[in-house]
Amino acid sequence: MKFSILLSSSLFFAVSLAVPGSQGKGKERADFAQVGFSQENGGTTGGKGGATVTVSTGPALVTAVAGHAPKIVYVKGSLVMSERAKVGNNTSILGLGKDAAIDGFGLQIDKASNIIVRNLGIHHCIDTDAISATYSNNIWIDHNEFWSERSKGFDYYDGLVDVTKGSDFVTVSWNYFHTHWKTSLVGGDPEAGATESGKYHITYHNNYWRDLSTRTPALRFSTAHVFNNYYYNITAQGIHPRSGAQVMIEGNVFRDVADAITTYGKVIPADSPNSSPDGDYEPDGFANVLPDNIFHNAPTNITQVGTMKSVPYKYRHIYKPAKQVKEAVLAGAGRGKI
Ligand SMILES: *[C@@H]1O[C@H](CO)[C@@H](O)[C@H](O)[C@H]1NC(C)=O
Ligand SMILES: *[C@@H]1O[C@H](CO)[C@@H](O)[C@H](O)[C@H]1NC(C)=O
Ligand SMILES: *[C@@H]1O[C@H](CO)[C@@H](O)[C@H](O)[C@H]1NC(C)=O
Ligand SMILES: *[C@@H]1O[C@H](CO)[C@@H](O)[C@H](O)[C@H]1NC(C)=O
Repeated sequence: MKFSILLSSSLFFAVSLAVPGSQGKGKERADFAQVGFSQENGGTTGGKGGATVTVSTGPALVTAVAGHAPKIVYVKGSLVMSERAKVGNNTSILGLGKDAAIDGFGLQIDKASNIIVRNLGIHHCIDTDAISATYSNNIWIDHNEFWSERSKGFDYYDGLVDVTKGSDFVTVSWNYFHTHWKTSLVGGDPEAGATESGKYHITYHNNYWRDLSTRTPALRFSTAHVFNNYYYNITAQGIHPRSGAQVMIEGNVFRDVADAITTYGKVIPADSPNSSPDGDYEPDGFANVLPDNIFHNAPTNITQVGTMKSVPYKYRHIYKPAKQVKEAVLAGAGRGKI
């Protein structure tokens, strides 16, 4: 008996060490290591090797994430924020347990690089987004939960994860996005093609998107890979490449999504303040929709088929056929899973 227990626990450690970032129990252990465009351009390590600190108040978080020295900031409990926390370079922000959260104001990543945010709830943020990245690069946003409420209308809260002003090399994985209007925008200005084309390499995988209106995500000028996500009850525009964005879409499940994938450049009034009553128009985007996606009550409008057919990083080792995605995402996305 004793011998076999010892054997199986040493086997457990061997497996854990062999697959960094993998967690969970027994055979169902999922591989939660970083996979995506955040691995390019030198990679994203956050505060690895730096000082560690645990914070349990909003002001302590604001202080802890400032500055560019490598640092790992653990968040304990639910923190009420009275301002946004401006995150410096080389920072990891990691929630502890199942209920770490920040409430009221979010994280501002501006002119910064090499940032990791994991296992954190970020909700009801005013004064722009739950996480906004501007002029920044190499960001990994993983296993978080983002939400607000729908009753205040589409323009009371802004985005949940917005990546704008030419930010680049971002991975958004295993997050739970819910109960919100404008979810995730990549590229904020349709007029900015001259300076922003060729930026916005971004990966979205294994996210759970539920009870949202638009932008799951919406993208301009981007090179984006969207795989193994589960979408449920999206009431307007879902994946929305426009202004020439190229998106490769594979292994996702869409259930009850009004406009599951649209490359049509029409931006509906519930997405943005509009210049005409039926919406604004900008150039269409491109979608390369690979065969393995599942659509239930989820129409698409692909006006331009894309040319994006590969990515520079390895992902096939975590890729799942679409028929396994709902179960894997419901089990693995959000807080308290790593
Ligand atoms: C901090 O981040 C910069 C990029 O902004 C990087 O060049 C540098 O190596 C990082 N420093 C450490 C100690 O990781
Ligand atoms: C922090 O990162 C930004 C964006 O990459 C870079 O412009 C800046 O030089 C970095 N600052 C330091 C102190 O390394
Ligand atoms: C879909 O989302 C809307 C908006 O959050 C919500 O009011 C509605 O109850 C949801 N429907 C289902 C079936 O969950
Ligand atoms: C699909 O896109 C075309 C433009 O190519 C547009 O005329 C049509 O109204 C769109 N359909 C829907 C359902 O949005």
